[in-house]
Amino acid sequence: MGSVSDRELLERARKASRLAYSPYSGFSVGAAILSREGAVFTGCNVENASFGMTICAERVALFKGVAEGCREFEGLALWAPEPVWPCGACLQCLAEFAPEIRIIRQDEKGEMDELQLKDLLTSAFYLNCR
Ligand code: THU
Repeated sequence: MGSVSDRELLERARKASRLAYSPYSGFSVGAAILSREGAVFTGCNVENASFGMTICAERVALFKGVAEGCREFEGLALWAPEPVWPCGACLQCLAEFAPEIRIIRQDEKGEMDELQLKDLLTSAFYLNCR
């Protein structure tokens, strides 16, 4: 992933998970996304008493990057106590900006794994306006 190693990106995701606001699930997730320019944006899950308002770590990281002007991303690192891949909503959001993105993940046991977005979401929704 260019200038930032997978190990570094996973470490940023692990640190971000410590900032999770997850009093309802107790499941703290951290994400770190690498832009094409080499910038890293981190995110954690932010839960809400109105459960449906909860946002996942992946979308927080992605939206932080987009809000800072980045439009293309190469890699996403995900850290959670148990191995997880991004949910369907996050995959759709990632597809908007990074249909080719690599996703790496690690859990508490240190197990690492990698897949491509296109392996996880075979038919994203796109509008023909781009
Ligand atoms: N969560 C994430 O942040 N990312 C994932 O990939 C899976 C789920 C969060 C949402 C919620 O706060 C908690 O984990 C339990 O679902």
